[in-house]
Amino acid sequence: MSAGRPAHALAPAPDKAAPPIAEAQGVTRIFGVKPDITARVMHRVGLARPEPTVQAVNDVSLSIRRGEVVGLVGESGCGKSTLGRVVSGLLPPTRGRMMWNGRDSQALRGAERLKAKLAVQMIFQNPMASLNPRITVRDIIAEAPRLHGLIEGSVDDYVDAQMLRVGLDPAMKDRLPHEFSGGQRQRVGIARALAVGPDLLVCDEAIAALDVSIQAQVINLFVDLHEALGLTYLFISHDLGVVRHISDRVVIMYLGRVVEDAATEEIFSRANHPYTQSLLREVPVIDTERREFETIAGELPSPLAPPPGCHFHPRCPFATERCRTEVPVLKEIAPGHRSACHLNDGMGA
Ligand SMILES: Nc1ncnc2c1ncn2[C@@H]1O[C@H](COP(=O)(O)OP(=O)(O)OP(=O)(O)O)[C@@H](O)[C@H]1O
Ligand code: SF4
Ligand SMILES: [Mg+2]
Repeated sequence: MSAGRPAHALAPAPDKAAPPIAEAQGVTRIFGVKPDITARVMHRVGLARPEPTVQAVNDVSLSIRRGEVVGLVGESGCGKSTLGRVVSGLLPPTRGRMMWNGRDSQALRGAERLKAKLAVQMIFQNPMASLNPRITVRDIIAEAPRLHGLIEGSVDDYVDAQMLRVGLDPAMKDRLPHEFSGGQRQRVGIARALAVGPDLLVCDEAIAALDVSIQAQVINLFVDLHEALGLTYLFISHDLGVVRHISDRVVIMYLGRVVEDAATEEIFSRANHPYTQSLLREVPVIDTERREFETIAGELPSPLAPPPGCHFHPRCPFATERCRTEVPVLKEIAPGHRSACHLNDGMGA
């Protein structure tokens, strides 16, 4: 796969004048964690500790412009899916605001809210788990647009058009999901999402469960749909090769926080944050088609008890005393390039 310009470089440029299609403003998402047996016993004898919580997303501000493809990467458990679910309205933020086209998602009501929710759709990793196994592909695709009155003509014509758009043969519409291959099932998932006319797709590891040979076809489909429909993507992936291929901009998360955010080539040629640098350095070179990062030195701390100060300090070769206590601010270090590291003090756009 080419590592040069984003594959969709011919697609319309992101519109910088309009409000962002989606904007997280200081979004935090906290989950309660089921107490273990010790905690339950302590609670019973009156020695209860505070209920354990995990701050899956911690004060994240991020904007996605119409037409942009934003890649979101970071190690397992850093909060990518949680942020994706907040962006797509499946989860409310615990603190902060999620804006869609300049409007607070929580403040929207009735028809406006429904319209805004339909405009953001999520594609999941495992199409088998996200498709109802007992209903035909025709009903899977038609269910939401029919419910919301989006189909003007015949349902069959509508479903056929959705299937053709994602490269599926409409003659297969009366089959059940298990009668499709993995790649075809993911196409069904994409057709179902597109059937409600979204502007933004949040793709959460959307190709990770597919065979490598099929992955390239589905990535090409995403690229084609981006060009044809002017879609915007938040593209979550472990595969840096794929992220580089498809994204205009890459956002790096570490233990709930965004630590770096820049144009794709800037990230790959001039990564600033020590964590991003280690991610890129540690990419295994055995297989250049699947460039996953799993071998950063040092252990990933538990999201239940992240280290104070800069979360990355126990693994950072440049850590100082200050890094152990003071949270670095995510700030612009060059136009369009944000990084959260004390080493940048004195730098600015
Ligand atoms: N519903 C939930 N209840 C409790 N904790 C949760 C819930 N969802 C996520 N978490 C926790 O929040 C943190 C972030 O999880 P998340 O799934 O967002 O990470 P991720 O970056 O998508 O990881 P992966 O790469 O493995 O998919 C993890 O510690 C996870 O255990
Ligand atoms: S703030 Fe300190 S610990 Fe964190 S990345 Fe920068 S140098 Fe490393
Ligand atoms: Mg995830």
